[in-house]
Amino acid sequence: MTHIRKVAICGAGGTMGAGIALVAARGGCETLCFDLSEEALARQHEAARKFFEASVAKGRMSEAEADAALSRMTSTTSLEDLADCDMVIEAIFENLDVKKDLFGKLNGICKETTIFASNTSTLSITEIAGGSGRDDRVVGMHFCLPAQVMKLIEMSRGINTSGEVFEAAWGWTEHVGQLPVETQDKPGFILNALLVPFNNDVIRAIEAEICTPEDIDVAIKSGLGYKMGPCTLLDLIGLDTQVRLGEAFYPITLDKRASVPPLCRRMVAAGRLGNKSGQGLLSGTTRAKATEAPAYSISSDRESRSFPAGDAFLSGGAQNAEISICLGGAFVADDTKTAVLVELDMECLGVHTGEHMGQEGSNAVGFARYRNGDDAPSNLIELVVQPNTNADAIAAARAVFEVAGFDVVQCKDLPGRIVDRLLRPKYNDALRFLDEGLAQAEDIDKTCRLGLGYPDGPIERVTRGGLARHHDISLAIQSATGDISYAPARRACVAKQREAAQ
Ligand SMILES: NC(=O)c1ccc[n+]([C@@H]2O[C@H](COP(=O)([O-])OP(=O)(O)OC[C@H]3O[C@@H](n4cnc5c(N)ncnc54)[C@H](O)[C@@H]3O)[C@@H](O)[C@H]2O)c1
Repeated sequence: MTHIRKVAICGAGGTMGAGIALVAARGGCETLCFDLSEEALARQHEAARKFFEASVAKGRMSEAEADAALSRMTSTTSLEDLADCDMVIEAIFENLDVKKDLFGKLNGICKETTIFASNTSTLSITEIAGGSGRDDRVVGMHFCLPAQVMKLIEMSRGINTSGEVFEAAWGWTEHVGQLPVETQDKPGFILNALLVPFNNDVIRAIEAEICTPEDIDVAIKSGLGYKMGPCTLLDLIGLDTQVRLGEAFYPITLDKRASVPPLCRRMVAAGRLGNKSGQGLLSGTTRAKATEAPAYSISSDRESRSFPAGDAFLSGGAQNAEISICLGGAFVADDTKTAVLVELDMECLGVHTGEHMGQEGSNAVGFARYRNGDDAPSNLIELVVQPNTNADAIAAARAVFEVAGFDVVQCKDLPGRIVDRLLRPKYNDALRFLDEGLAQAEDIDKTCRLGLGYPDGPIERVTRGGLARHHDISLAIQSATGDISYAPARRACVAKQREAAQ
């Protein structure tokens, strides 16, 4: 087994390389920082000093530990200096030829036992290893940004990677305090394979004016408990990066959800890249919540998924109030009310009100409180409006739910509303990845929890919510849209067939 004590980081002056160097030095390794740019290395060394200083201030390290970690870091612009390293981790530009060229050169410089690891996000480890002269000693080691904070590492083997090398590299990641998961050498590994198409779906929903970017973030954070909304994340990583990721994945996967949404290209052309250019998807404005609400009365046909028996909202109902709330889909039109609120399940509001070729709208407003299967309902209310729904009715609906303490978002009358529209393809992907052997279920979930800060992973969540219900919701959206990404995954079909057989 190769013992890894001295590690070189190539591209240490860059975003990822600088963070990986901190991980290695903090983990006790002699850390050689290599980059083509001397200035970048000088900046990185200063940033490292500040990082360890801050770690001491936060009580995460003693002063002596910080001094020792910093003294383990040295810098060079000469590739020859990497000769005696036990492992080289490259985090240089995302270009196959550039990475292959680097490993080819290093093969002639480094000792025979040196392991080469690549931090690539989109390229194949097998292809990077090809022609390196030691493709049995090349592994994929995908850190998350910022590497010094995020514990997750997606580890992958090229076709010719030896088991001994993979285990040594895996052991090193644990030794330096990281949490590795294993994935196949496929585009995007786990994290980006789930995230890139999901983020594109978010941009497509904005492009189709289904709702505002602000409402997407509220819906995903409130409904699912994600720490960061997808539009905030997209503005952070940059829409130009999202274009590059789509361009890298689509030609390989031919998954149309991975292809770059036209709006994303237009935003980049307009210089609206996100935080780095000052303007992105989010406008930066927030809407004040209502502080007063009209009275509401409740009628109910059957058990409500939004407000199950005993829910505090039910006790707030009055007799013959200005707002009428129809639970369980029991819609009764009433023009004398300011608003009639209709609880929806998988159906569109138009099923209750009728449609008039884009002119539809009345005082009827659809709504659903997001809920994963039989989990407790979330705090999110999705309002559903038609093109000509009365503005007073919408304002009243908002006020009723906001004053009751809910987070309220608004969307067009399209299947899946915001949350299911964005989530169901991701669940189908995760279930398909499981079938295709990309990774174990635990590793898919762990990747989303650790790498993206989700409270739970897609497999555990869709399973808890019921695979048969996932089948029904996905199929309802697919039959209304014809969109193949909603075709229920095999595991959901099996669950549905078993349910039917019982
Ligand atoms: N930025 C991210 O969020 C992220 C996350 C995970 C993985 N990655 C991957 O990490 C790698 C680096 O990405 P980044 O965002 O840190 O890029 P970056 O542009 O910030 O840094 C790249 C660094 O590599 C240096 N460099 C380029 N060619 C070199 C060479 N031949 N030898 C030595 N140094 C060289 C550059 O001077 C620069 O300092 C890419 O493969 C990327 O896909 C990026």
